[in-house]
Amino acid sequence: MNIVNNNTDIRSNQPLDAYWMPFTANRQFKQSPRMLVSAKGMHYRSDDGRSILDGTAGLWCCNAGHGYEEITNAVARQLSELDYAPSFQMGHPIAFDFAERLKSVAPEGFNHVFFTGSGSESVDTALKMALAYHRARGDASRTRLIGRERGYHGVGFGGISVGGIVNNRRHFGSLLTGVDHLPHTHAPEHNSFSKGQPEWGAHLADDLERIVALHGAETIAAVIVEPVAGSTGVLIPPKGYLERLRTICDRHGILLIFDEVITGFGRLGAPFASDFFGVKPDLFTTAKGLTNGVIPMGAVFAQDAIYEAFMGGPAETIELFHGYTYSGHPVACAAGLATLDIYEKHKLLTRGSEISNAWEDRIHTLKSAKHVKDIRTVGVIAGIELNSREDAPGKRAYEVFVKCFEAGLLIRVTGDIIALSPPLIVEEGMIDEMVETLGQVLSETA
Ligand SMILES: Cc1ncc(COP(=O)(O)O)c(C=O)c1O
Repeated sequence: MNIVNNNTDIRSNQPLDAYWMPFTANRQFKQSPRMLVSAKGMHYRSDDGRSILDGTAGLWCCNAGHGYEEITNAVARQLSELDYAPSFQMGHPIAFDFAERLKSVAPEGFNHVFFTGSGSESVDTALKMALAYHRARGDASRTRLIGRERGYHGVGFGGISVGGIVNNRRHFGSLLTGVDHLPHTHAPEHNSFSKGQPEWGAHLADDLERIVALHGAETIAAVIVEPVAGSTGVLIPPKGYLERLRTICDRHGILLIFDEVITGFGRLGAPFASDFFGVKPDLFTTAKGLTNGVIPMGAVFAQDAIYEAFMGGPAETIELFHGYTYSGHPVACAAGLATLDIYEKHKLLTRGSEISNAWEDRIHTLKSAKHVKDIRTVGVIAGIELNSREDAPGKRAYEVFVKCFEAGLLIRVTGDIIALSPPLIVEEGMIDEMVETLGQVLSETA
């Protein structure tokens, strides 16, 4: 399973206190750290010299796997040529090249790309675009934003306001005003052990009509959802659900935003979730796979009609008072262009469609494993929900995460749900290895 090579043990007694780690139990981690020191292909290497199979593409971001020389070289070349350039009232060619290339992989009609530095920034950007779009069209009463329970849209104030994960919200005050939420679509009592889109639950989209009736359509700017909710534990949209959201948004002049930060760039076996599900939003957000995770970057894709709504005033007017110091960063653009070359060369934006059946079949063999309560799969994503320990939700899955790491497999857990999303270069034998390790660890976990 895991390759132990003690010759490469580079553990050190380095001080750990200064780094305040994100989304981490700092004190627990620093007592017993898990350190990754290098990566190549489908594997990380830990500081004690073990090979760790990457079951999560890092953090849903290294869609092509790790350690591509082509990306390294492109980044190095760009650094030596133009390390940074401002993007406000200035330009540099590679940002225009990258936007043009992205347009060529995006669903038809998404011909405009706004660069950000992360998924959270992409979300805030898309929400602000939606608000400003209505205003630009003389519809300034549309200020309300609708998210969804259990949604994850990053950690900016916009994202946590429309997001629906309680721990990401409860510590941070009153958040944005004028936000409402659709119900989540998690319904294991109807849809357990689903492969692909579950049958039950399209009607949950109709709750948008209730929200419209409550607030008035003329107050609502946009609805934002993840096409597949990832961070909350893999919730796959029921058949017909996204179509219904689209129809209701159209009926009431509400913009639909898809947060494709994890579904973008091949995760479902199609370039984007809107290709996979056949439903087009007005705006969609990306990050992560945009640069294969190697340099932080995000991008918001806008339909022509959205962009054009901003382009009506005098030409010397700044149309959108928004942007980041690192929008269109030349080095990130270089990484992104090299990433697109790799996706193209290895056909990774659609490879998921070739392996998703094998993925699904093998993952679902864990149905009989100890503690397993539900399994959900779509594209190259799996959610494996465990029965929680009484009075200790999340503890069992955390233990499974630690034991898997020790056994040479990186998984991700949220509450008592395991999420798997390996790089899209994953081979069937590696899927077997993941299933075997996970099954073994589950059998040894109380
Ligand atoms: C759907 C979605 N939106 C936004 C984000 C935030 O991205 P970032 O962590 O790059 O800010 C994430 C991160 O996991 C995500 O899954």
